[in-house]
Amino acid sequence: MKELTLQIDIHVFDYSELCDADRRLVDEAKQATYRSYVPYSHFSVGAAARLADGTVVSGSNQENAAYPSGLCAERTTLFYANSQHPDQAVETLAVAARNERGEFLDEPIPPCGDCRQVMLETEARFGNAMRILLYGKQGVYEMKNVGALLPLSFGSEAMK
Ligand code: THU
Repeated sequence: MKELTLQIDIHVFDYSELCDADRRLVDEAKQATYRSYVPYSHFSVGAAARLADGTVVSGSNQENAAYPSGLCAERTTLFYANSQHPDQAVETLAVAARNERGEFLDEPIPPCGDCRQVMLETEARFGNAMRILLYGKQGVYEMKNVGALLPLSFGSEAMK
């Protein structure tokens, strides 16, 4: 028997420590939470993607009475970015969320598994590391690539 220990690296920043561009991106993600459609969960998530050419696009979670038909903020944003700008790598994705009391979360919002998988594919299709910024009032997590969010991931290379 062997034991495998995986290490992931996360930098934790105070919001005020972020560079201007990252702070603006986090602000876009926070603003996007106000455009969510969440009549069922009352949990508002916003995401903002900065593309290689500097374009910023944002999105929010959109729910549906048929629950699985709704979509998370991260996937709404990445699919929109990729459908509008298919030749631009996503350089950084910022995510923020507000709870049912309308307050931003204290702890960084953890993306769901499906969104992590889509982030992985977005990173892979451009062959560029995609940084992730997860906003929380008590700290912003920075991950240098999606691997930090999804170790032992399944990708197209596994099928070869
Ligand atoms: N949600 C997101 O938009 N992103 C996440 O990372 C976690 C969950 C949404 C889905 C649903 O609209 C609501 O939050 C509650 O799960």
